[in-house]
Amino acid sequence: MKALILSGGSGTRLRPFSYSMPKQLIPIANKPVLEYVLENVRDLGVREVGVIVGDRAPDIADVIGDGARFGLRVTYLPQDRPLGLAHCVTLARSFLGDDDFVMYLGDNMLPDGVGEIAAEFRALRPAAQVVVRRVADPRAFGVVELDERGAVRRLVEKPRRPRSDLAMLGVYFFTAAIHEAVAAIEPSPRGELEITDAVQWLLGHGAEVRASEYAGYWKDTGQAEDVLACNRHMLAGLRPAVGGEVDAASWVEGQVVIEPGARVVRSRIEGPAIIGAGTVVEDSYVGPYTSIGDDCTLRRTHLADSIVLRGALISEVSGLLGSLIGRSAVVGPASPGEASHCMVVGDHTRVEIAALGARPPTLAATATSAAMAGI
Ligand code: TTP
Repeated sequence: MKALILSGGSGTRLRPFSYSMPKQLIPIANKPVLEYVLENVRDLGVREVGVIVGDRAPDIADVIGDGARFGLRVTYLPQDRPLGLAHCVTLARSFLGDDDFVMYLGDNMLPDGVGEIAAEFRALRPAAQVVVRRVADPRAFGVVELDERGAVRRLVEKPRRPRSDLAMLGVYFFTAAIHEAVAAIEPSPRGELEITDAVQWLLGHGAEVRASEYAGYWKDTGQAEDVLACNRHMLAGLRPAVGGEVDAASWVEGQVVIEPGARVVRSRIEGPAIIGAGTVVEDSYVGPYTSIGDDCTLRRTHLADSIVLRGALISEVSGLLGSLIGRSAVVGPASPGEASHCMVVGDHTRVEIAALGARPPTLAATATSAAMAGI
């Protein structure tokens, strides 16, 4: 079996990050989503991987390379414009040949793996096997309807009135039968070649389509809130390891990783949290569910339940919660005596500052709010 990993797309829901980096490289517990995807695929016994890439192809190639680091052989398949998931299959036609394959969306996290579903697909080899789970509001998903015997009866992309709560997740298994289907369908009203339509085409032409329910943790990391939620989930399973320097005036508690080369000075780190290599944390509090990337600096800052990307500098800010701070961003105080805020804020950035008159949270309150943030 081969794998087709989709890492193009426009990522509009993850702006401003997607302006400067492919969303598949957003770090969760300091590791890009795409790396989790590749490891997951490798765990299925796959070795040959095609990666669909858009205009951010060089960034992806910089991180993934030829795949050898993951025990994989990676072939890059450029897509000029994000014309849909089924379009990605048409682009991969010669890479895939007539082999069975797993198609995996490069922004989907299924850390518990899909090994059992893959084994079922390998044993039964239906034309398509989709991975589903029950969701509260299926309107944003491809929705699968089953008949009374549990067989797939119909698939509808983003229905306004869903007739089932079974949403398709970002993993699909196909035999070569899918190629005829993707060649036969027309673009949807939103202008994309929908994989849901291709699978529906297979059903309509008498092919077998199976749906398997995935019971593990799943997150589509397409939006900032989902990235933060997924980060909380992954940090909760962190194995503590202190490789960096922690001075005698600091206090480290719980599941905390401090990478070699990081320095913690007169600070308190309350896990689960990870501090990247080369990062300096001084006179600060890093609360639960926080990932700080490599080469960051935190000074006199209190934060929790947040992700800080490589090279950011945060100083003299208290009560940072639920924040996603981009690479080499600078967050700090105004000049002494200035009662105003000064912002150089990029397109589609979201800034939420404490309301006028609100009291800054204490260190304890920062931790409590982090704990309340859905953990
Ligand atoms: P989506 O998240 O559905 O689409 P998107 O990346 O355009 O994001 P947004 O809706 O926020 O604008 O895509 C799912 C995955 O598939 C993601 O990893 C990007 C990838 N993809 C492609 O590689 N090519 C495509 O044509 C499309 C539509 C998506």
